[in-house]
Amino acid sequence: MDAKLLLLALIIGLALLAIPSCVCQYDQQYQACSQTLLQCGNISEIGYPFWGGNRNASCGYPGFELNCQNDVLRLNISSTVYRVLDINNTTQALRVARDDLWDDTCPRVFTNTSLNSTIFNYFSTANDQNISLHYGCNINQTSTAISPYNFSCSVNGAISWNFFLTRENSGLGNGITCAAVISVPVNQTAAWALAMPTTSTNLLQDALNNGFLIQWFANNDNCNLCARSGGVCGYNQDGGSFSCYCSDRTHEFTCDDNPKGNDIALSNNHRLDVY
Ligand SMILES: *[C@@H]1O[C@H](CO)[C@@H](O)[C@H](O)[C@H]1NC(C)=O
Ligand SMILES: *[C@@H]1O[C@H](CO)[C@@H](O)[C@H](O)[C@H]1NC(C)=O
Ligand SMILES: *[C@@H]1O[C@H](CO)[C@@H](O)[C@H](O)[C@H]1NC(C)=O
Ligand SMILES: *[C@@H]1O[C@H](CO)[C@@H](O)[C@H](O)[C@H]1NC(C)=O
Ligand SMILES: *[C@@H]1O[C@H](CO)[C@@H](O)[C@H](O)[C@H]1NC(C)=O
Ligand SMILES: *[C@@H]1O[C@H](CO)[C@@H](O)[C@H](O)[C@H]1NC(C)=O
Ligand SMILES: *[C@@H]1O[C@H](CO)[C@@H](O)[C@H](O)[C@H]1NC(C)=O
Ligand SMILES: *[C@@H]1O[C@H](CO)[C@@H](O)[C@H](O)[C@H]1NC(C)=O
Ligand SMILES: *[C@@H]1O[C@H](CO)[C@@H](O)[C@H](O)[C@H]1NC(C)=O
Ligand SMILES: *[C@@H]1O[C@H](CO)[C@@H](O)[C@H](O)[C@H]1NC(C)=O
Ligand SMILES: *[C@@H]1O[C@H](CO)[C@@H](O)[C@H](O)[C@H]1NC(C)=O
Repeated sequence: MDAKLLLLALIIGLALLAIPSCVCQYDQQYQACSQTLLQCGNISEIGYPFWGGNRNASCGYPGFELNCQNDVLRLNISSTVYRVLDINNTTQALRVARDDLWDDTCPRVFTNTSLNSTIFNYFSTANDQNISLHYGCNINQTSTAISPYNFSCSVNGAISWNFFLTRENSGLGNGITCAAVISVPVNQTAAWALAMPTTSTNLLQDALNNGFLIQWFANNDNCNLCARSGGVCGYNQDGGSFSCYCSDRTHEFTCDDNPKGNDIALSNNHRLDVY
C-alpha cells in the first residue's frame, strides 16, 4: 500500500466514522428530554428532575411535577402547594414560598410547613429560621401583655388576633392563648427584622413571600455523571429507576457505561469499513 492509498483509506475511514453521528436517528427520549421546560415568569432552562408541561414524566423524577399558570410556577410537596421562585441546578436548591401564605397572612386552613424528606430537605447552609404564626388568640381580661408582633385577620366578619414569634422574641405574653400555631422558615435577615419592635405586618408578608431554600435529592450524583458523559437525565417509569438518555439509546448510568451489544456491533462495522 503506497502513501496515497493509505491516505485515501484514512479519509474514507474518517468520513464513515462521522456519518453515523450525523444521519443516525437520535434516541427519541434523548431528543424529547433535551427540551427544557418552557419559560415560566422569570424562570427558564428547567431540566431534570423537573417535568410537566412540555416535559414527559420520563424526563423527570417522581414528585417533581411543575405547573405553570399565569407565569407562576407551582410544585406540590406532600399535599402542600409551593410557589417556586428560584431554581439553582448547580446546588440542587429551590427557593419556595408557601402558596397559602402568598400575599395573605390569614390562611383559612392552618398547616405546618412540611417537606417530603425522601426527596427534599431544608438547605442546611441557608441560615433560614423558623418563625411561628399563632392564630385565633384570646387575650384574657386581666392580661396587660402588649405585643407589637401582632396582626389581625377577618374571620367571617369578626376580627381575630394573631401573633408571630421568632427565635429572638419567643413566648407570647401572659394571658394570651391561641387556637392554632404553624411554623414557617424565612431568611435570617427577615427573621431579625421581624424580631425588632419596629416590625410590621408588611415585613411579615415580605418575609413569607421571599420564601426559603430547600435542597432536592433525585439521584443527583447519577445525573451529574450522566450529564458529564453527554447524556440527559431521566427516569424509567416501568423499572422505577434512573435512566441516562444518550444520543444512541438509553443507558443505565452514563453514556459510556457497559455497552450492551449495540455499541460493539457499531464499532465492528467501522473497523470493517476501513479495511
Ligand atoms: C421577574 O423579576 C423581576 C426583577 O427581578 C421582578 O420585578 C418581576 O416581578 C419578576 N416577574 C415575575 C413574574 O416573577
Ligand atoms: C441548568 O441551568 C443552566 C443555566 O440556567 C441551563 O443552561 C441548563 O440547561 C440547566 N440544566 C438542567 C439539567 O436543568
Ligand atoms: C412518555 O414516555 C413514555 C416512556 O417512558 C412513553 O411511553 C410515552 O408515550 C411518553 N409520552 C409522551 C406524551 O411523549
Ligand atoms: C397540587 O395540589 C393542588 C391542590 O391540592 C391540586 O389542585 C393540583 O392538582 C396539584 N397539582 C399536581 C401537579 O399534583
Ligand atoms: C415522597 O417522595 C417519594 C419519591 O418521589 C414518593 O415515593 C412518596 O410517595 C412521597 N411521599 C409523599 C407523602 O408524598
Ligand atoms: C447557584 O448557586 C451557586 C452557589 O450559591 C452560585 O454560585 C451560582 O451563581 C448559582 N447559580 C445560579 C444560576 O443562580
Ligand atoms: C405545628 O407543629 C407544632 C409543633 O410540632 C404543633 O404544636 C402544632 O400544633 C402544629 N400545627 C398544626 C396546625 O398542625
Ligand atoms: C424548622 O422546623 C422544622 C420542623 O418543624 C425542622 O425540621 C427544621 O429543621 C426547622 N428549620 C430551621 C431552619 O430551624
Ligand atoms: C398590636 O401592635 C400594636 C403596635 O404595632 C400595638 O399598638 C397594639 O397594642 C398591639 N395589640 C395587641 C393586642 O397586642
Ligand atoms: C389571665 O392571665 C393571667 C396571667 O396574666 C392568669 O393569672 C389568669 O389566671 C388568667 N385568667 C383566666 C380567666 O384565664
Ligand atoms: C430576605 O428576605 C427579604 C424579605 O423579607 C428580602 O428582601 C431579602 O432580599 C432576603 N435576603 C436574602 C439573602 O435572601
